[in-house]
Amino acid sequence: MQAKGRNGFIILLFIAFLIIGSSCSTSPTATLGTDQVTVLRLAHNHGESHPVHQSLKKFAELVEEKTDGKMKVDLYAGGKLGSEREVIELLQAGSIQISKVSASALEPFANVYSIFSLPYIFESKEHYYEVMDSSYVQEIYQSTKNKNFKGLTFYDAGSRNIYTRNKKVESPDDLAGMKIRVQPSPTTTKMISLMGGAPTPMSYGEVFTSLQSGVVDGAENNEMALTTDNHGEVAKAYTYTEHAFVPDVLIINHEVWDKLPDNFQTAITEASIESTEYHKVLWEKETENAKAKAKEKGVSFYEIDKSAFEEAVQPMHESFKQDKELQKVYENFRSLAENGS
Ligand code: GCU
Repeated sequence: MQAKGRNGFIILLFIAFLIIGSSCSTSPTATLGTDQVTVLRLAHNHGESHPVHQSLKKFAELVEEKTDGKMKVDLYAGGKLGSEREVIELLQAGSIQISKVSASALEPFANVYSIFSLPYIFESKEHYYEVMDSSYVQEIYQSTKNKNFKGLTFYDAGSRNIYTRNKKVESPDDLAGMKIRVQPSPTTTKMISLMGGAPTPMSYGEVFTSLQSGVVDGAENNEMALTTDNHGEVAKAYTYTEHAFVPDVLIINHEVWDKLPDNFQTAITEASIESTEYHKVLWEKETENAKAKAKEKGVSFYEIDKSAFEEAVQPMHESFKQDKELQKVYENFRSLAENGS
């Protein structure tokens, strides 16, 4: 069996196990009001050494603690249950109850999430945090009941930057003819086109082998991708285009949420907020570690003047400003920027 086919088979087995499991044992709602433990399954695509996994473990511990052990969160890490798109579908169907996915992966399910991938919407890390901690983002979290999911909180995933095998990327001209992997979202695809490259959408789990085999010439992500997912073994030039801060978002199946008693909902809400704060500190520390490790592996980091890239993507800002559905959220986010509009 090919590696990809074998992986697909393992995922299918897992999903069958989840579906059979949820029909004959403790479903999250069946146990309410009894002495049994309610178990929520949480899937995500990072490995166990990744800081996001550490923060999700923290979230799970806090939920258990706050419910005196009456509610447990089981973690399925490393993309075991499929790509981000696949786990969102599993969550909507109720086979899993919680997931951590990139905001970009949510865009095909709810257009409002495209705002997070709009390049240079955030002018600094401070602006990004200000927005993420604001009621504007809470409104987005609450807006997807009709899609059967709801946002709970975010985990910092740093700034996204372009990396290639060995080319420092100073201007859109440098990206001409280069195939750059993007997250499967229309906004990131458009972004790389405007930034001068040839966008190649694929799920995260495929990026390392695609870099290795030359299917793509580069990708864009935070520094952690260089180490925890080994991209730095192949990509040696990392340029700070700082074109986006796309958060990771914790989502929960809406029907499950609605059926949880108040004290369980409160425990989840509090655990979400506390784990996000825990993650902010961890992320900063681990990003520094990742940079140091990547340097040891021969990766060079380049600071550049980003203005040519910012200018190149301005048409996207114009589209957001004119889009009936997105203009309000665009204005809300921009209103918290230091320099206003
Ligand atoms: C980040 C993010 C992942 C996402 C990945 C990607 O690493 O944390 O959730 O899958 O970017 O580029 O697809």
